[in-house]
Amino acid sequence: MRIFGSTGPTLTRKRIVLGVTGSIAAYKAVSLLRALVRDGAIVQVVMTQSAMKFVTPLTFEVLSGHPVSTEVFEAHQEMKHLSLPEQADAIVIAPATANCIAKAALGMGDDLLSTMLLTSQCPLIVAPAMDGGMWTHPSVIEHVGTLRARGAIVLDPEEGPLASGRIGHGRLAEETTILEAIQTALAPRRDWQGQRILVSAGPTQEPIDPVRFISNRSSGKMGYAIAEAAQARGAQVVLVTGPTAVPIPRGVEVVSVDTAEEMTKAMSTRLAWSTAVIMAAAVADFRPMHPVSQKIKKQGRSEQTLHLERTTDILASLSAQRTTQLMVGFAAETNDLIAHAQDKLTAKGLDLIVANDVTTEGAGFGSDQNAATLIDRQGGLTELPLMPKRALADAILNRAHELLQSRQSHQAPTPIAGGR
Ligand SMILES: Cc1cc2nc3c(=O)[nH]c(=O)nc-3n(C[C@H](O)[C@H](O)[C@H](O)COP(=O)(O)O)c2cc1C
Repeated sequence: MRIFGSTGPTLTRKRIVLGVTGSIAAYKAVSLLRALVRDGAIVQVVMTQSAMKFVTPLTFEVLSGHPVSTEVFEAHQEMKHLSLPEQADAIVIAPATANCIAKAALGMGDDLLSTMLLTSQCPLIVAPAMDGGMWTHPSVIEHVGTLRARGAIVLDPEEGPLASGRIGHGRLAEETTILEAIQTALAPRRDWQGQRILVSAGPTQEPIDPVRFISNRSSGKMGYAIAEAAQARGAQVVLVTGPTAVPIPRGVEVVSVDTAEEMTKAMSTRLAWSTAVIMAAAVADFRPMHPVSQKIKKQGRSEQTLHLERTTDILASLSAQRTTQLMVGFAAETNDLIAHAQDKLTAKGLDLIVANDVTTEGAGFGSDQNAATLIDRQGGLTELPLMPKRALADAILNRAHELLQSRQSHQAPTPIAGGR
């Protein structure tokens, strides 16, 4: 049974930072705080200067059982803008003013709440409240769009009578809606449960002699992030990885390989087991034709020629052997990104391709962040801005899951005519 207005035991011992900003709806944050505490959450309240004009910190202090934080600079205190988000499972801003939404979208840090958002890694839930047509102002629309694109959950305010006496769109979302959004953000998604994903990651190393090889700049971080995210979302995951320095994600079965040939074999033998294949590895296209068993000496040589031959095209070969698997590939490009990615999608018979421009500053090989465009077989394009690779992994899995579901619903047996 679900008790109305309660999220149940899922918030037990969850650490939530409740940001309160200068809206007339600030008094509703008092009731929200009580509901969170009742559901077992440990709540730290952060107030803006404007918020304190509406409700006193004392109210929140007494009800939360913790001091309220209001300042970046406070004598004899730890750096709250770092410690609060570090310890938090989620940050909830309710009510959120147009001002605080704009600051968050622009990355400003001129008070404790906004500075905290710049250092936080946990889910962010924003419940706006605003009057006088602010919600439909182009600037607010743009900033809300930016926050949503970065993965924040921004709740739509509700329509109804506002503090000004007008009827409009801007009332703080109902408490139950906010509580449900927090619960959803904190409850692990299990939407990949029952699926078996084969993920490839990292570079390959193609030997020249026992001490030298040809490789590339892939760090493996993107593929590892996908494996980790898929496992967290309930999938059984096998990660076939070239040599990397990335820690192995928990609960993921790892198959380590060095060369493109080894990777081909490892992937092919597990293809039939899988329901989806995500090829994030940067596999060498060419390898030395005649690797030698002894170290090549430089003595007496002013130049050295290396003859290369094509390696097996893993994506094309898996694609040819596939039965019902969803196939996702990556296109790391330096120019004509979309055109090259679309060609690869078609040539390799993929369902989805993740196109990323590796020359983008702060993105690509080695970086913890990446930006990408997802292109599906029907020509649908989803542009994803620069974000942590783990967040990008979730965004890729979201799109792949939609494609998997629509494919599985099309594969469902046709009902017998007249049957129910
Ligand atoms: C009575 C009153 C009610 C207000 N209510 C809202 C509101 O609901 N939403 C909003 O965006 N701004 C509202 N404002 C304006 C904000 O308080 C103002 O933009 C302030 O700078 C926000 O600061 P903060 O975002 O740091 O809390 C209100 C102002 C007053 C005087």
